[in-house]
Amino acid sequence: MLSENTVKEIGLIRSKYHDAQSSLLPALYVVQREHGWLSPEALKEVGEILNVPKAEVKGVSTFYAMFRHKPIGRHLIQLCTNVACMIMGSENLLNILKDRYGLEPNGTTVDGRFSLVVMECIGACGTAPAMLVDTDFHDNLTEKRITEILESYK
Ligand code: FES
Repeated sequence: MLSENTVKEIGLIRSKYHDAQSSLLPALYVVQREHGWLSPEALKEVGEILNVPKAEVKGVSTFYAMFRHKPIGRHLIQLCTNVACMIMGSENLLNILKDRYGLEPNGTTVDGRFSLVVMECIGACGTAPAMLVDTDFHDNLTEKRITEILESYK
């Protein structure tokens, strides 16, 4: 169930757009920010609040890769493994995530602390390797740095 704040925020978003369809994308973003993913129940609620057909809500939510349709860990690690990051050691970082946390790409740790997705490029090629943890950006990663950084996310 969506929180009162989220419902209010969706209402505010709706008031800024001429039609309900245009407010759907930012509304879904707000829901994912609250829950970490878009459950079928949340999609239904968004459709009801915006008065947008269920099929349209589902269509938009599944079209964009940024929307998740299954639960994730408390913190999402988005590690870049594209060329610059690969050359600068992202494969080693992937191995560290696997060895220390049992974390595989598209997987979640047993304790639900972290989920991992591999990114193509996050625009930090000059200071590779780089990752996002939730919305926090981290670059110039080394084995020591990635461990220290991740320890600060509980
Ligand atoms: S290749 Fe990793 S940030 Fe561009």
